[in-house]
Amino acid sequence: MTAVDRIDLQVARGRAFALVGESGSGKSVTCASIAGLPPPGARVTHGEVRFDGIDLVRERPAALAALRGRRIGMVLQNAMTALNPLMTVGAQLAETFRQHRGVKGRAQLRRLSIEALEAVGISGAADRLGSYPFQFSGGMRQRVCIAIAIAAEPDLLLCDEPTTALDATVQLQILRLLRDLQRQRGMTVVFVTHDLHVARQFCDDVAVMYAGRIVEQGPIADVFAHPVHPYTEGLLRATPRLGVHHTRLLTMPGHATSGHTQMPGCRFAVRCGEAHDRCRASYPDWFGWEDEGVKRAAACWNVPRRLAVPVVSDDTSTLHPKMRGPRHAAA
Ligand SMILES: Nc1ncnc2c1ncn2[C@@H]1O[C@H](COP(=O)(O)OP(=O)(O)OP(=O)(O)O)[C@@H](O)[C@H]1O
Ligand SMILES: [Mg+2]
Repeated sequence: MTAVDRIDLQVARGRAFALVGESGSGKSVTCASIAGLPPPGARVTHGEVRFDGIDLVRERPAALAALRGRRIGMVLQNAMTALNPLMTVGAQLAETFRQHRGVKGRAQLRRLSIEALEAVGISGAADRLGSYPFQFSGGMRQRVCIAIAIAAEPDLLLCDEPTTALDATVQLQILRLLRDLQRQRGMTVVFVTHDLHVARQFCDDVAVMYAGRIVEQGPIADVFAHPVHPYTEGLLRATPRLGVHHTRLLTMPGHATSGHTQMPGCRFAVRCGEAHDRCRASYPDWFGWEDEGVKRAAACWNVPRRLAVPVVSDDTSTLHPKMRGPRHAAA
C-alpha cells in the first residue's frame, strides 16, 4: 500500500516552506519521512532525501539520529508523544541546551530554559520548569515542544501542524517567533498545515498535496494569487478570506480520495470540472514553467491550456520553451 508517491520537493535554504492539503493527503507522512521517521510499519521505498549533500534515506540510523535534534529539529503533530513523560519540562530543556549548544552551569541552563518557555508564551515560566508534561494543557505541551525544537538551533525545522491546537493569539505569537528565528538564523522551515491563512502569513513557498501526491508548487504569493491546478484553485475558493464579505462559501464537490486508492489517472479527476479522458487514463506529467522569473510547477494535463500555451501534444519535448516535463521523482 502506498501512502504518498512521486513526492518531489526542493526546499531552499533559509526559506519557510508550507506543505498544505486536506486531512489525509499525506502531509505528516511526507514530513516524517524527510526526517527518516516514517510512521510505524511504513518505509521509503524509492528516491532520496538530500540534506546538505547527505542522503537521509540511506544514512545510518545512528548518524541520522545524531542529525535529528542537532541539525534537524522536529515539532510533531502529537505533542504528547514527543515529550518524555518521566522528565520535567525544565530538565528536558536543559538537556537540549547542554547536548546541542554545549551550555554548562546550572544558573545559565536555568536562565536559558526560562527564556525559552517565555518565548513561546508560557507564563510563570520559572515556576513551570519543575512540572511534568502531563501537568500541562495540550496547547502548552505543544509550545514546550516548539521551545525544545528551537533551543537546539537546528538548520532545518520540520513543523507538523505546530500551532493547530493553540488559540489565535498564541498561534500568532509562535508564528512570529518562528519567523524571527528563521530570518535571524537563516533557519529553513518546513511547515505542515491545512490552514491556508497561516501558510500565507508565515511561508515563502508552498507545495499543495492531494491524495498522497504533490499537485502544485511555487512561491506562495504567486501560487495563491494565480493557482493553476484546479485543486489548488478549489481549495482557495473554499477558504474564507479575512475582510471579505462572503454571501456564500464555495465548496468542492465530492470527497478527497485516499492516497491508497489505486487508479491510473489523476486522483482529482473525479472532482474536477475540467477533467477529460486523458486525466482519467494517465497520471499527469509534472509541468514546470517560469513566469517573469518565478519558478512554478503543477501536475495537471490542463496546465498548457490554462497557461494559454498553444500545445496539444503527448510529446512533452514540444511544450512551450519555458515548460519542462515530466519531472517525476519517486519517493
Ligand atoms: N502507519 C501508517 N500505516 C499505513 N498508512 C498510514 C500510516 N500513517 C498514515 N497513513 C496513511 O497515509 C495517508 C496520509 O496520512 P497523513 O497522516 O500523512 O495525512 P495528513 O495530510 O497529515 O492529514 P491530517 O491533516 O489529518 O494530519 C493516509 O491515507 C493515512 O491513512
Ligand atoms: Mg498530519
